Amino acid sequence: MEKLEQLYEGKAKRVFATNDPELLIVDYKDDATAFNGLKKGTISGKGVINNQMSNRLMQKLEKAGIPTHFVRELSERETLVKRVAIVPLEVIVRNIAAGSFSKRYGMEEGVVFEQPTIEFSYKNDALGDPLLNTLHARALGLATDTEIEQIKCYAFRINEILKAFWAECGVTLVDFKLEFGRLPDGTIVLADEISPDTCRLWDTKTHEKLDKDRFRRDLGGVEDAYAEIMKRLVEHDAT
Ligand code: TMP
Repeated sequence: MEKLEQLYEGKAKRVFATNDPELLIVDYKDDATAFNGLKKGTISGKGVINNQMSNRLMQKLEKAGIPTHFVRELSERETLVKRVAIVPLEVIVRNIAAGSFSKRYGMEEGVVFEQPTIEFSYKNDALGDPLLNTLHARALGLATDTEIEQIKCYAFRINEILKAFWAECGVTLVDFKLEFGRLPDGTIVLADEISPDTCRLWDTKTHEKLDKDRFRRDLGGVEDAYAEIMKRLVEHDAT
């Protein structure tokens, strides 16, 4: 599959056209940003890990009946995906209070919710990805009621699947962000990535952070954390 012109460059990935109008190539970079691009850095080897981790997780989700954009891994950093129109919503599922939830609502990080919770933000860098509710999403014309219901249903199912998988790796899935897209026929599929950039993953025993919070919060050991979480996944899949 040939890489044609670059269609888009995001903070962590580049997207290229291919000779098939329905397929794109995603190329993962080592660049890392936080706080809507205010903090910039590099996490050496991140692109390889995020590409491979996201692909493995998406394949597990596909097996469990969740449609995704994944087609085929092309190289360490490149993956062939279905072209979708991204629904401009960041879908955040949380099992444990952390990050912006803790800050916004004054709940200590680490409090386990009785039930998982979900929130949406408007995927719009210029506005700083503001939090919104589903009625706002409808008013802004970002998605239909049916699409929002479908997305919510997938998001909670994905949480159950990933939570159970990571538990087997000795990892607690604290929260994560998903993005969905529409195929040309309107079908909603999971898109973007699932990686330590987009999930909070804590060692179940020690609560050590094995995700991008190490970069966001200057905790050190960023590369080691990415390598460790990938190792847990690979070792799990090998057994
Ligand atoms: P938050 O607590 O900062 O809102 O983050 C919730 C989850 O979403 C966390 O796992 C990190 C992920 N996330 C992204 O993937 N992209 C983003 O731009 C932000 C702010 C969070």
